[in-house]
Amino acid sequence: CGIVGYVGPQQAQGVVVEGLRRLEYRGYDSAGIALVVHDAAGGTLAMEKRAGKLANLEKAIADRPLPESTTGIGHTRWATHGAPNDVNAHPHTGGSRRVALVHNGIIENFAALRGRIEADDHVMLSETDTEVAAQLLELQVESGVDLTTAMQRICRQLEGAFTLVAVDSQDPDRVVAARRSSPLVVGLGDGENFLGSDVSAFIEHTREAMELGQDQVVTITRDAVEVTDFDGNPSDGKRYTVTWDLSAAEKDGHDWFMRKEIFEQPRAVADSLLGRRTADGLLQLDEMRLSDDDIREVDKIIIIACGTSFYAGMVAKYAIEHWTRTPVEVELASEFRYRDPILDYSTLVVAISQSGETADTLQAIRHARTQRSKVLAICNTNGSTIPRESDAVIYTHAGPEIGVASTKGFLTQLVACYLLALYVAQVKGTRYGDEITEIIHQLEEMPDHIATVLESAETVYELARTHLNTKSVLFLGRHAGYPVALEGALKLKELAYIHAEGFAAGELKHGPIALIEEGLPVLCVVPPQGRDQLHEKMISGIQEVRARGARTICLAEEGDTSIEPYADVLIRLPRVPVLLQPLVAIVPLQLFACELATAMGHDVDQPRNLAKSVTVE
Ligand code: G6P
Repeated sequence: CGIVGYVGPQQAQGVVVEGLRRLEYRGYDSAGIALVVHDAAGGTLAMEKRAGKLANLEKAIADRPLPESTTGIGHTRWATHGAPNDVNAHPHTGGSRRVALVHNGIIENFAALRGRIEADDHVMLSETDTEVAAQLLELQVESGVDLTTAMQRICRQLEGAFTLVAVDSQDPDRVVAARRSSPLVVGLGDGENFLGSDVSAFIEHTREAMELGQDQVVTITRDAVEVTDFDGNPSDGKRYTVTWDLSAAEKDGHDWFMRKEIFEQPRAVADSLLGRRTADGLLQLDEMRLSDDDIREVDKIIIIACGTSFYAGMVAKYAIEHWTRTPVEVELASEFRYRDPILDYSTLVVAISQSGETADTLQAIRHARTQRSKVLAICNTNGSTIPRESDAVIYTHAGPEIGVASTKGFLTQLVACYLLALYVAQVKGTRYGDEITEIIHQLEEMPDHIATVLESAETVYELARTHLNTKSVLFLGRHAGYPVALEGALKLKELAYIHAEGFAAGELKHGPIALIEEGLPVLCVVPPQGRDQLHEKMISGIQEVRARGARTICLAEEGDTSIEPYADVLIRLPRVPVLLQPLVAIVPLQLFACELATAMGHDVDQPRNLAKSVTVE
């Protein structure tokens, strides 16, 4: 989501709406604004919010102008909890409409807090986790503390990742914000101050900025910026001068949205894991309109998807079958209907789609429903068609993905697939609670591992730039590394327009090895050591292609020395379990394709002939 706050001499409406326009790339399913209007009684809130793009909000304001005000906040939303409609749009208020609050992130313990608020006879208007924070904040200011203290107090109660920005109508010249694991920067002006999810929100007004640390609260007035921790102790932000232009600012300083999205993956994976456990430690999914009995009845799972999402589905098969002992088929959505698939009420069809609008996938689930199958969607876009037509949804919480070639969408789909597998294992009892907890902990370590891989981006870039004249690249993998090889090849085709193919390494000797010739680059995803001879067999495959002249570029875990004699280039991966390895192994392949395409002069964000969401069959 995108967040803006302003206090100063200008009309806040203009500053906030302009800031939202700059942030619209962060979310565009609804938008809203709240202004504090001085009046005889001290102040009131003026608010407008609308589902859909910012243009809908702008039209509403044009039709019914808001009063003048010099203090305001705004929000452009990418829905996580609750459908993208007018009511769920931000800002949210408490029951007496004294405070208004906007939020980015996920409040993990919102259900428990909501229960407490409702038990006190306060009525909740929306389905959002945000309203919980707004209600709590209002109760605090009504108890007599100022907005800053109120914000510190509620932050101590909230779990999860969040940026909150709020105004109090009885304190018209102050905007207060807080952040934990979610972005927020302060824009430092002359007699005016700004808040934004990133500097593009205020870069037209000031280039002086302050980055906030973890668990900090900031209060802005016209002439002051005060930072504290959640306990109210004075603290500091880091000041800097923005040197980026607007286009770089919205890409967080990167040249492409895709590159920004690759580097966002640790955060995206962490977000997609948030809020998945109940207070008693059980896994819960976003919208589960399937009962435990429905899940226990499932005797076959069919995953349908297209493109990158299909490869996420291939990884899912390994995890689901291993953890749940339920047979899984993975099918390209465009092929599914036409093969007269065998489906009935005991089949669970899982549709994976970042956009939620892919026509092939949509038609496939419609077909499944006519056969009375249950349908679960794994999707990044709240309120899109595929989740609306499904019985259950796991949202991937990656935030909008703008680069046409999917990156953070893929990683968060993998997370959702692992969660689904563990959820089915929990309900069917095929894995013990302790074991599920252990795997969740391993998943929770993945953001750090992904960050480690990203630290060596420069090495991958250098490698990529040596492949400018390459006509063909092969990718090899085994087990969960096989879909990674396919996805790595797809990235290279999509971005660099180079012929690239992924193979299961064991299949080499049955044909593809004939393609190997002197100098052909072969990217090899080496499985972790020590399981089912998978690793040893992969090494034999690598030896075979190298003996025939291939130039082997191997991705292998830290400490794996056995690969060294056979790798012309070695890229290290953190040591992680084999089923989770795709989360780290794909990252260098994304970086490789992105950098090579950039060096070749291609448009990485909008590759030729491709569309982000293909709504025709
Ligand atoms: C298009 C995109 C691909 C994407 C595929 C599936 O072809 O270019 O990047 O993987 O659609 O999209 P979905 O939104 O259903 O995941």
